[in-house]
Amino acid sequence: MGHKIGRNDPCWCGSNKKYKNCHADFDEKLAILHSQGHTVPGHELIKTPAQIEGIKESAKINVAVLDAVGEQIKEGMSTEDIDKIVYKVTTEMGGIPAQLNYEGFPKSVCTSINDVVCHGIPSPDVILKDGDIINVDCSTIYKGYYSDSSRMFCIGNVSEEKRKLVRVTKECVELGLEQVKPWGFLGDMSQAVYDHAKENGYSIVRNIGGHGCGVEFHEEPWVGYIFKKGTQMVLAPGMMFTIEPMVNMGTHKYTTDEENGWTIRTADGKPSAQWEIQVLVTETGHEVISW
Ligand code: MF3
Ligand code: CO
Repeated sequence: MGHKIGRNDPCWCGSNKKYKNCHADFDEKLAILHSQGHTVPGHELIKTPAQIEGIKESAKINVAVLDAVGEQIKEGMSTEDIDKIVYKVTTEMGGIPAQLNYEGFPKSVCTSINDVVCHGIPSPDVILKDGDIINVDCSTIYKGYYSDSSRMFCIGNVSEEKRKLVRVTKECVELGLEQVKPWGFLGDMSQAVYDHAKENGYSIVRNIGGHGCGVEFHEEPWVGYIFKKGTQMVLAPGMMFTIEPMVNMGTHKYTTDEENGWTIRTADGKPSAQWEIQVLVTETGHEVISW
């Protein structure tokens, strides 16, 4: 839609360079890939340098919040206590917890223990016990820019079985990340994540996944893990999204809490782990924005 941009016009990316010296080749490449039947990102998914700077500022807060949680998390603490840390550190640094009131979510962070896959709601009644594994999923809004990442924490003496799940899930994210490069495909990442989980006898939750992130909390593309390499959206420099597989020890099937409408649990009660990173596709590869 709209009129075609002239080669001497300012580039649509906000660089103040002439289009022909900026994103003209980029658009050409995407047009060819599109004509070959590939899904390509729209310009709205390509972050400008100014946006990337803003998102990085937001991510500094998100990382500091997760670091603070990591320093203080321990047996006997409630998940409400984690929520308080998240709210305090985020707001003291000038940010807003993106989860708070997001589609009615009542707290500042998701705290998901053992068989809780994601979207666990912090509560004074949920106390961290020796042997628990917990995902703390944090997202921040700063000057309108979004960051989103999550980490696992092991509480006290965690069984080797659960430690392995946590470790392998992190490896899944790292292997997926290695596949993030310009002019590759989102499915390259998906398959690397999936294969590693599968090789270790685990399953991956299917229809809850990652997402574009930065200018909005949840942008396109949707990021799943059951896709094959060479499929899904073409990765172009300036795209930013999360990799956040939920890896289950048993079945990939899950249930949704009927009372709160949020909390997702494994259908067989076995443990689930998740790590989440936010990544930028660069000219040469990728850059981790938040972890
Ligand atoms: N950080 C989670 C994500 O990856 C947030 C889920 S939305 C919430 O998108 F409201 F449940 F927090
Ligand atoms: Co996310």
